[in-house]
Amino acid sequence: MTTTRHLIGLLLGTEEDWPRAFEEILRRLGPVTGTGGTRHEFDCERITIEPFGLRDKPRYHLVIDRLAYWYYHPREWLKKIALMDNVYLLNSPFTFQSMEKHAAYCAMMRLGLKVPQTVLVPYKNPLDNSRYAYTAAKYNRPFDLDAIAGAIGYPLFMKPYDGGAWRGVSRIGSPAELHAAYDSSGEMLMHLQKAVDYDAFARSLSIGAETMVMHFQPERPMHLRYEVHHDFLSPQAGAEVVTIGRLVNAFFRWEFNSCETLVAGDEVHPIDYANACPDVALTSLHYYFPWAIRALVKWCVFALVTGRRPKLDTEADRYFEIADDASASYEQKLAAYGELADAYFETDRYQEFCATSLAHIDEITLDWVAGPGLDELLIDTVRATYPAHEHDQFIAHLRGLVGLWVADESARLRAAS
Ligand SMILES: Nc1ncnc2c1ncn2[C@@H]1O[C@H](COP(=O)(O)OP(=O)(O)OP(=O)(O)O)[C@@H](O)[C@H]1O
Ligand SMILES: [Mg+2]
Repeated sequence: MTTTRHLIGLLLGTEEDWPRAFEEILRRLGPVTGTGGTRHEFDCERITIEPFGLRDKPRYHLVIDRLAYWYYHPREWLKKIALMDNVYLLNSPFTFQSMEKHAAYCAMMRLGLKVPQTVLVPYKNPLDNSRYAYTAAKYNRPFDLDAIAGAIGYPLFMKPYDGGAWRGVSRIGSPAELHAAYDSSGEMLMHLQKAVDYDAFARSLSIGAETMVMHFQPERPMHLRYEVHHDFLSPQAGAEVVTIGRLVNAFFRWEFNSCETLVAGDEVHPIDYANACPDVALTSLHYYFPWAIRALVKWCVFALVTGRRPKLDTEADRYFEIADDASASYEQKLAAYGELADAYFETDRYQEFCATSLAHIDEITLDWVAGPGLDELLIDTVRATYPAHEHDQFIAHLRGLVGLWVADESARLRAAS
């Protein structure tokens, strides 16, 4: 029997938690048999950063990137291996710049999604560029910040066009707060966005063809933000949240991304969905962490074994045609986008592959999570994250939530067998 070996590269920043879990589950999974009986073996390595010739051949067949959003040398390497070497990347490095929230807002507004009203205002401070003074004097039009905010209505949010981790985000309730926030925005480029008065905050994490919708509580400390709460949305709103996340991802060619939506009544408003390096920390995902790691292993193995080719072309016109159909309702458009997303993610083929070639991965994951392996990781992660006097508290907190997943997952597997 022929064996194909695949090398997965991890391009990492400071994280140790999910990479260790990923490496361990992949190792335990062992060889996978593809359709037609071919045998596939997987190796996983952490990528180092070094000079590269643009014609050098990379050793990797698939790369999971967590670094390029701030480190530009590996970002350019990703573009090179995508363009020249057909390496499979989970997130297209060409639309990655849409990590700017701005482009992502524009795209989804164009498709008719209920993104709150948003205005981009010019920089508060002069740019550090010798051409700026002349250009600004000649072309920058004076503008009335109060009038813009008044037209949007209070409260509103001021936040950077390329945000992340709440940097520079403020909720504005009055003209005085508006001016204070704008004055302190300095060299950051800011959006003003109408605040949504929401009933539920849904944060969905998508990994390939799978999406997990989680109840998010942004006002709580990090470790309590994802609440373990199933069915917190109506079936209709839940389905819409999933479709929106998958649409964003299919549109931009992202396969590892999170999407924040604010649900007010039956209306679903996406507000932040360009997170091509989504939070998958054990300390924040807790209960959902095993699902995330398993989905990541499954998607990588699926892509490699089936020879899935990365698509650099976004085929935006196919979405715009749907958007521009004046006779179609919002619901009909969403359904049509959902079909494009399913086609992009090969959802049926993925599910079939998981049921046949990866039938044992649920047991493998449960076994590892329930055993000492994850517990060691949990302890190491807590020690690396929190001050000493909080270790016991956080270890107990995380053990409780991971234990809850183990109980739920055991029950699910028993019911399925
Ligand atoms: N239009 C809005 N209406 C209501 N709340 C909002 C709105 N925009 C932002 N927020 C609140 O502000 C928070 C931060 O905004 P946003 O997610 O856009 O910034 P971020 O820097 O990407 O944050 P993170 O990295 O946590 O995702 C949101 O989680 C939400 O609680
Ligand atoms: Mg956010």
